[in-house]
Amino acid sequence: MSLTRVLIVNRSYPSAGLELLKGNSRIQATVLPYEDYEPQSLKEIKQSVKGVDGLIWNTRYRLTGEILDIAGPQLKAISSTSSGLDHIDLEEVKKRNIRLGNTPGVLNDAVADIAVGVMIAAARRFKEGIRNLESGEWKYGVTWTLGQDIVGSTVGIVGLGGIGQAIVRRLKGFDVARFIYSGRSEKPEAKTLNVERVPQEQLLRESDYVILACPLTNETRNMINCTALRTMKKTAVLVNIGRGELIDQEALFEALREQCIFAAGLDVVTPEPLPKEHKLLSLPNCFIIPHMGSATVNTRNAMAQIAANNILLALDGQPMQFPIN
Ligand code: DGY
Repeated sequence: MSLTRVLIVNRSYPSAGLELLKGNSRIQATVLPYEDYEPQSLKEIKQSVKGVDGLIWNTRYRLTGEILDIAGPQLKAISSTSSGLDHIDLEEVKKRNIRLGNTPGVLNDAVADIAVGVMIAAARRFKEGIRNLESGEWKYGVTWTLGQDIVGSTVGIVGLGGIGQAIVRRLKGFDVARFIYSGRSEKPEAKTLNVERVPQEQLLRESDYVILACPLTNETRNMINCTALRTMKKTAVLVNIGRGELIDQEALFEALREQCIFAAGLDVVTPEPLPKEHKLLSLPNCFIIPHMGSATVNTRNAMAQIAANNILLALDGQPMQFPIN
């Protein structure tokens, strides 16, 4: 009997997931140790994907119709080791009747922690502080260190899904005066959390902290553009833990440079990896970390296990643990 082949296109796929796959004697699971740099990495991926039955994918590369064609018609199941699915051509997957899953929920707490982390770092000028400290220019009694308070503030969450809710729960301990949210639908959890739904324009106008916690879709792409940034308070801090493309980065650069808003704290940017000479990195009021939202040992293990279960279940003809279609 021939083995069912599963290819893992995620160089840092945790062994917690790999063990689950390898525990099934009918499965041959391979982690692809692709090169870090395009086009070599994409070439390797395309060469290796041919003939696989299951695919575990990560957010680094776009999963396109071309790659699915190269894989071939025997491909039955795909799981992304992510919550977001903007890197997958959903139409192409659907067209080929391939089962698709993701790994939501388990990363809510880790991502919410990072949201609060970059929020404080941006509001309290960590980047300027570190630059001064490391360049030997630490002086007492200087006013540049003054940042923004969280106590008494209005926090606006764009997208009150699982991550947005976890952010609110954390910030309850910071004596925030008011929580508001915007989004496509009314969230039943909002009542218990005491978060009021408002139109997006009002959220931008009234928030001291605007936190982007929504998925990237055609409607949300570039939602933070020049107009949005000019609607925000001059003292506002923008936080993004969703996807880089939620923000028009050119407009953000200008807004931060002209101090139209106070600061930004970003876990996600466009492109990723961001080149070290990118102009956003030159701004003292732009605190950026390299997409580390879900990067804790336990969270990544849990994500890997869900991805493995999604594939194992689908290849066995059962519903995935977290199915998309
Ligand atoms: C996700 O799962 O979408 C996170 O951004 C981690 O990559």
